[in-house]
Amino acid sequence: MKTPFKLHNVIKRYGDREVLNIDQLSIPAEKIYTILGPNGSGKSTLLRILALLLVNDAGELEVLGEKVTWEKRQLLKLRRQMSMVTQTSFMFSGSVYYNVSYGLRVRRMGARKVRKRVDEMLEMVGMSAYRDADARTLSGGERQKVAIARALAVNPRVLFLDEPTSNIDVASAADIEKHIRYINKERGTTIIIVTHNLFQARRLADEVLFLNEGRIIEQGACETIFNQPGDERTAAFLRGETVF
Ligand SMILES: Nc1ncnc2c1ncn2[C@@H]1O[C@H](COP(=O)(O)OP(=O)(O)OP(=O)(O)O)[C@@H](O)[C@H]1O
Ligand SMILES: [Mg+2]
Repeated sequence: MKTPFKLHNVIKRYGDREVLNIDQLSIPAEKIYTILGPNGSGKSTLLRILALLLVNDAGELEVLGEKVTWEKRQLLKLRRQMSMVTQTSFMFSGSVYYNVSYGLRVRRMGARKVRKRVDEMLEMVGMSAYRDADARTLSGGERQKVAIARALAVNPRVLFLDEPTSNIDVASAADIEKHIRYINKERGTTIIIVTHNLFQARRLADEVLFLNEGRIIEQGACETIFNQPGDERTAAFLRGETVF
């Protein structure tokens, strides 16, 4: 599948306020696709709509080859193929092990395989020592690491990351970036990432989308956007100036 996500005239409003208005958007498969933009520009809203966690008010949405009807059975089928790490990672009450194994047990993976996979994932994010700890007692960065392990454990076709390393120290973040790149290359996972870290965007992204006030300002190959932004607002944002 070349384009797992296609949007046409998608609008999201809160009350009278329109927070997202996307005429046309196609997100390519098997790439690392990065969404940039200032606070409140609609990045998380767009991510949640793509992940089918938030319903748009108007427009059409095609996800993994299906026109989205929001019918229950379709939602379940499509959501099973995607996982998401949010800005503030929610932890289920229980151990770290319980949290990371959750999606695998829901998918009815055998106990021995579950154990092996969870251990691999915890090793990957450097959280093996916390395997039996109560997930709710973890620090912000530790939670984020567990959330990443939990999201990757189910081997999703699409992985959404909303500022996945915002609370994570530089060395651990570098490690996690390495794994993000690895699963993209080795498993062909489509990765859609929102980040405020422009260096991270530049290191990871194949393609970049720049949002401002709920609208697409520009999109294209990462190197092109960073080296020759086509819009003054993107250029200002990348220089670290206020966007008008
Ligand atoms: N549940 C809600 N009710 C009302 N307004 C909302 C709601 N969720 C988001 N908004 C508003 O919609 C706009 C877009 O929010 P969104 O979270 O998508 O921004 P963002 O680009 O992810 O910002 P940030 O970089 O701060 O995470 C914001 O102005 C926000 O205040
Ligand atoms: Mg956000």
